Amino acid sequence: MDDVLRASGLRKSFGSLVAVDDVGLAIARGETYGLLGPNGAGKTTSISIVAGLLRPDAGEVLIGGRPMTPTATDTKAMVGLVPQELSIYPDLTARENLRFFGRLYGLTGADLTSGADRVLEVIGLTDRADERADRYSGGMKRRLNIGIGLLHEPDLLILDEPTVGVDPQSRNAILDAVEALATDGLAVLYTTHYMEEAERLCDRIGIVDKGRIVAEGTRRELVATIGEQDLVRLEVAGDVVAAATACEHLEGVGSVDAEDRTMVCLVTGAAGRLPALLAAVAGSGATVTGVEVREPDLEDVFLHLTGAALRD
Ligand SMILES: Nc1ncnc2c1ncn2[C@@H]1O[C@H](COP(=O)(O)OP(=O)(O)O)[C@@H](O)[C@H]1O
Ligand SMILES: [Mg+2]
Repeated sequence: MDDVLRASGLRKSFGSLVAVDDVGLAIARGETYGLLGPNGAGKTTSISIVAGLLRPDAGEVLIGGRPMTPTATDTKAMVGLVPQELSIYPDLTARENLRFFGRLYGLTGADLTSGADRVLEVIGLTDRADERADRYSGGMKRRLNIGIGLLHEPDLLILDEPTVGVDPQSRNAILDAVEALATDGLAVLYTTHYMEEAERLCDRIGIVDKGRIVAEGTRRELVATIGEQDLVRLEVAGDVVAAATACEHLEGVGSVDAEDRTMVCLVTGAAGRLPALLAAVAGSGATVTGVEVREPDLEDVFLHLTGAALRD
């Protein structure tokens, strides 16, 4: 197998807290793998182990078939890690930042110059390369942060929630850049708590909760775990709990959640069942004020698997 990354049985505890609990994943060249989960799920701890920053209590990380450890310089050279916190110098320009970090990676002379130019192009900062980083927008700083992880031409790029706190336009530029890198053959490990980003970028997604990968697959495969069911959302005026109870035992209705003025039902063949649902709500004495039918998304999968929302 030509997996760039192969990790298995990873565990890490902090005191009595199990932050990473039997995590395993594999990523091939050109593949983008997403770790999707809420704050505290164990994403950063997992990737810190993969990048060799943190020693796991158990488990193994192989990069290009060779073991990653905190002292393994050969495997570390194959990995670019972009941490969530910015690690750039504000009073240096983008080009100066790249040249500084490039020297740390052992680049010199023409390699350093061409490496910085190449990265500036990839992150779309060529035109602004000679301005101080503290003049940049939040999104530009993030792109520079990503660029530093690309200088030594890694085989695996790890990005830890790179769009948090970034405006929508910069977010798009970041996502475009990541997409282009994967197209060029890089393996990408991407953590996020944004369902939309995982859906757009990732070939495969691992849904993480409380240190465990609770489900893994393509977006389609994950959504299929809910079954061939649609989501029917009814806005209800009146007693929503009574309305939900009236719908629970209807044929084709898998589950009903009621909250505030909204009922969410998982329904097989929703279109054909709508008349019965509406009649049941009316029979309970409540009034339907709005109806939405849609396919489930990854938020729904997360809710289905964990009983909690992805975002709080
Ligand atoms: N160095 C540490 N010491 C103690 N607890 C930690 C440490 N790092 C992370 N944790 C805890 O481990 C859990 C997972 O954290 P983290 O990997 O940062 O999650 P995520 O990146 O998904 O938000 C959290 O409960 C966090 O508080
Ligand atoms: Mg994190």
